[in-house]
Amino acid sequence: MKLSKILFASHNAGKISEIKNMLAPLGIEVVSSADVTFPDVEETGTTFAENSLLKSQTIAKALGIPCIADDSGLCVDALNGAPGVYSARYAPNRDFDKGIDKLLAEMNESSDKSRKAHFSCVVSLAYPDGRYKLFEGRVDGKIAFEKMYGDGGFGYDPVFIPDGYDCSFAQMSKEEKNKISHRGRAMQKFKEYLISL
Ligand code: IMP
Repeated sequence: MKLSKILFASHNAGKISEIKNMLAPLGIEVVSSADVTFPDVEETGTTFAENSLLKSQTIAKALGIPCIADDSGLCVDALNGAPGVYSARYAPNRDFDKGIDKLLAEMNESSDKSRKAHFSCVVSLAYPDGRYKLFEGRVDGKIAFEKMYGDGGFGYDPVFIPDGYDCSFAQMSKEEKNKISHRGRAMQKFKEYLISL
């Protein structure tokens, strides 16, 4: 079934414009939760897939149109995968400068001295009848010993160094980051699925 209109479950202006630009060449109109004034769905799941589906399925059922959502986070080996699905809430008052300080301090205290980490993202597409598809993306790397700021990035980008690079995500251009990022990879799979329909 070819899709002509999708709702994107997000109030994040940056993500919304990214998805609109990506799907416009496929002739798919994207509306967002902000456009239809649908409130944020609470993320009560314990996995990225669960949270992503909670958002997309709730809205697809409520509004009767196909809906996409994403959920993502940073998983650090030395912290047994934390902050993971709690990445946004881990930062005190959503202040990621403080969140990074907390992360570096907890890693210093951990007996596991590994710096290995990865970002994960699960994009879900839910249909009003309950069917769904999941698209996963992951990028492996390591946590820097101190913040490496650049012109771009958000969240934990200043301390994430992807494998094969010696700069942080925050020091890359948007295009460069999108090519290898967890979200970029999940979205690429989603786009390939749409093209296959
Ligand atoms: P959400 O998927 O929008 O709920 O994002 C969860 C949280 O994970 C964000 O608030 C960030 O803290 C973190 N996060 C997800 N993706 C990235 C990224 O690409 N760079 C830095 N932090 C990220």
